[in-house]
Amino acid sequence: MAEPTILPLLRERRSVRGYDETHELATDDLASMLEAARWAPSAGNSQPWAFLVGRRGDVAHHAFVELLAPSVRRWAPAASALVFAVHQTASGPEEDAPLYSDYAAYDLGQAVAQLCVQAGALGLSCHQFAAFDHDGLAELAAVPPHWSVTTGIAVGLGVVSEVAPRTRRPLAEIAYGARFGRPWFRDGC
Ligand SMILES: Cc1cc2nc3c(=O)[nH]c(=O)nc-3n(C[C@H](O)[C@H](O)[C@H](O)COP(=O)(O)O)c2cc1C
Repeated sequence: MAEPTILPLLRERRSVRGYDETHELATDDLASMLEAARWAPSAGNSQPWAFLVGRRGDVAHHAFVELLAPSVRRWAPAASALVFAVHQTASGPEEDAPLYSDYAAYDLGQAVAQLCVQAGALGLSCHQFAAFDHDGLAELAAVPPHWSVTTGIAVGLGVVSEVAPRTRRPLAEIAYGARFGRPWFRDGC
């Protein structure tokens, strides 16, 4: 099967590790990215997500950088912003607390995907990362106990192209028909 066509934005996206240290993330661009996340679908429209945002040079960013693992600290501070994604893990004391926490991580991932696609449309690059002090961030930001810190997202103007080939498992290994493991295009679907 020929390689299927997808949006150039998706095909060309890379998790870059080289950012323009002089680029400043415009408030409008940051708001657009967060707005894209806000409009993601979620179980029962529970919207179990929240974001912690620091732009390079501000107080939040300084504090966030301290929490990065060495592997991420090598490249992420140069990005224009560090955004951290958190999701609700249980209904909280709020009256309108989401009731769909079993799907909250799924919902958050989808919101982050939308944020990153919007960033790409604005000419910006995102690199998500897990290597940071999750407990430290929860404490620093006073994240409530029924919320879970998940990932960080470095956002900025990518300047260094990633040279490693971009690899993925083939479609035959991830898309099945009626039987798990049997490629959908060989199953009469
Ligand atoms: C949940 C999650 C955690 C990640 N954690 C890290 C990380 O700690 N450090 C890192 O360099 N990249 C991290 N990445 C980036 C992945 O390594 C990257 O997306 C993957 O290698 C595919 O590369 P691509 O995004 O350029 O296609 C993470 C990505 C996701 C979605």
